[in-house]
Amino acid sequence: MESEEKRSFIPYGHQWIDEEDIASVVEVLRSDWITQGPKVDEFEKKVAEYCGAKYAVAVSSGTAALHAACAVAGISEGDEVITTPITFPATANVIVFCGGKPVFADIEADTLTIDPKEIRNRLSARTKAILPVDFAGHPAELDKINTIAKEKGLIVIEDAAHALGAKYKGRRVGRLSDMTILSFHPVKHITTGEGGMILTESQEFYEKLKTFRHHGIVRNKPDEGLWYYEIHNLGYNFRITNFQCALGLSQMNKLDWFIQRRREIAARYNEAFAEIEKVITPVEHEGAYAVYHMYVIQLRMEKLKAGRREIFDTLRAENIGVNVHYLPVHLHPYYQREFGYKKGDYPKAERYYERAITLPIFPKMTDEDVEYVIKVVKKAIACFT
Ligand SMILES: Cc1ncc(COP(=O)(O)O)c(C=O)c1O
Repeated sequence: MESEEKRSFIPYGHQWIDEEDIASVVEVLRSDWITQGPKVDEFEKKVAEYCGAKYAVAVSSGTAALHAACAVAGISEGDEVITTPITFPATANVIVFCGGKPVFADIEADTLTIDPKEIRNRLSARTKAILPVDFAGHPAELDKINTIAKEKGLIVIEDAAHALGAKYKGRRVGRLSDMTILSFHPVKHITTGEGGMILTESQEFYEKLKTFRHHGIVRNKPDEGLWYYEIHNLGYNFRITNFQCALGLSQMNKLDWFIQRRREIAARYNEAFAEIEKVITPVEHEGAYAVYHMYVIQLRMEKLKAGRREIFDTLRAENIGVNVHYLPVHLHPYYQREFGYKKGDYPKAERYYERAITLPIFPKMTDEDVEYVIKVVKKAIACFT
């Protein structure tokens, strides 16, 4: 393919950090509170309020949030948790860390989120929870999932690492499941460097989560002395720092704009690729408000003269930081070896994986960056047609 005038590398995602963010972190660094401190509570309250959730517990990463949620849901030896194969492996890894078995259910071909019909096919006497993922920022079919959970007495832990600010039937993600987890990794909607949060409506889960984040320490016997604490159940050090939460608070002031900008870029991509029949663009179901953590296109390989790999490499050669999200979790060697999963088990997830390319999308992308990506993608597709 004849090269365009090359722009500098455009990653698939990138944080936005401005002077306001820097000032709020510096202010905390100059204070007495470096690890736990008042900003942690403030950040929890701000995110909970934004999402309409009752309780929030901030932790050191999205993975820690998932792990804590599974632990307080009581996932343990012999339990099965139904989840999607199209996710970052942490979603399934934490189930295993708690002693449970991840049982995958195939995805819906359009939204790429877990298919409630497939969940029903995977239920067993050992199923304890359902762990849907709001893939790329599009909410999963939460009403249908909650209906199954209610019928069968299961807990729903929603992995909304991609979906802060997303809406499902007019309601913000964060209070639509028993527990909802968020990630604040730099490519997400807001960042604290590393960080995560669990949102819940349940006081019982909330109290257990706060204890789990801090080694399982319980201070309930003041008569024993000010130093006294006990461990009733094991926990981890999953604490987040005061200065990370100061960053999170300042990022929250920009969240609506971040989401608006992501949706603007997605709309421009949708418009530009609508005319190319070899490209399938992401859907947004009626009733869903997607927040485009990622913008994933699928290629109709049968209409192209090249494989996904060649198109991917061509875009990378033009400094477009395309990526692929994700190798279906059941195909990772660990999951094949330990749980006996194999190629062919989840045909829709596998078909999606073979055709997917993630294009850059993040608020800091300029209109020129967006037009460059469009131009190069169109050219690469034309070249291999
Ligand atoms: C769907 C999903 N769940 C969980 C995580 C884990 O989040 P973290 O990187 O904050 O640990 C990620 C991270 O990318 C993710 O994409």
